Amino acid sequence: MLFRELNRGKCKTYFVACERTHKAALIDPVREKVERYLALLAYYGCTLDAVIDTHTHADHRTASWELHDLTDARVVMHRRAPAPHVDVHVEDGQVIPIGDVNLHVFHTPGHTPDSISLYTNDRVFTGDTILIHGTGRCDFAGGDAGEQYDAITTKIFSLPDETLLFPAHDYRGHTQSTVGEEKRANPRVAGRTRQSYIDLMNNLGLPLPQGIQESLQPNQSAIEDESIKFPTLSELNQVRQLSAKELQLKLMTSQRPILLDVREPDEFRGELGHISGSILIPLKELPARAGELEVDKSRDIIVICRAGVRSTTAAAILTGLGFEHVGNLKGGMLEWADQRLPVER
Ligand SMILES: [Fe+2]
Repeated sequence: MLFRELNRGKCKTYFVACERTHKAALIDPVREKVERYLALLAYYGCTLDAVIDTHTHADHRTASWELHDLTDARVVMHRRAPAPHVDVHVEDGQVIPIGDVNLHVFHTPGHTPDSISLYTNDRVFTGDTILIHGTGRCDFAGGDAGEQYDAITTKIFSLPDETLLFPAHDYRGHTQSTVGEEKRANPRVAGRTRQSYIDLMNNLGLPLPQGIQESLQPNQSAIEDESIKFPTLSELNQVRQLSAKELQLKLMTSQRPILLDVREPDEFRGELGHISGSILIPLKELPARAGELEVDKSRDIIVICRAGVRSTTAAAILTGLGFEHVGNLKGGMLEWADQRLPVER
């Protein structure tokens, strides 16, 4: 197996390739470094088979969409990833083959709901689940310290102690660790109960990273152009959230809300389907097409997407345009499907 860390900075991108087939994967590529990655692939004579984001990143723009456009590499993310244009959704226990190299997927939520770790032979790529002598913060939307503790202690720590551990970030110049070293000496996890980990993580008091929404919302929506002015965090936080069950009840009343689906057309008609009677306006077209909803300005509008993330953005945009009764389907069509509620395709 060929292996390299490519960024030489705080954000880590890993290159993994099969020596026999010269198929390669990039794990967590960063948008500013696309040329560097393509040059390195050419240097090794490799074709890019897959780009894998270990989670939806909040601190940098992903290069996945651009690399997919340039090389046709598959974009791979966890099923819970909110963005469109993911070619392969994976779940816990699945294997991503890169030539002869098998990357085993662990679902390791906590930092984000869609966090995965990837294990092959002697090493594990842990994303922001566990870092070297640290762990990824869990105070962003969808984060959960308890889930993160479980993922680290029952999944990552179930690997052999000598397994090399490569996280998505390091802020102190470390390049690798081992599972055994982190079990023994990770100050956030070693010797800590689940509850004391939750208390610790919920009281870190970290400031939000600068420009978080400028990275997060394009990554969540795969919108590359600057045509959309994304809402602020406080605007997003004000969006009214409805569970799938609450929406189902509302649909049975005489005051049926308008259902606005903001996914891409292929998702609307794809595997998850859509709720009967939904209007489709993809998020990237919403600012220009909101006028189509103008007659309904006083009516209840519930916005829907894959995971409930893009639709929260859409709901905040509509609220900003003067729509007064906008809500969001929490968990999106993934949650609707998990509740086995009816869909059309
Ligand atoms: Fe992260």
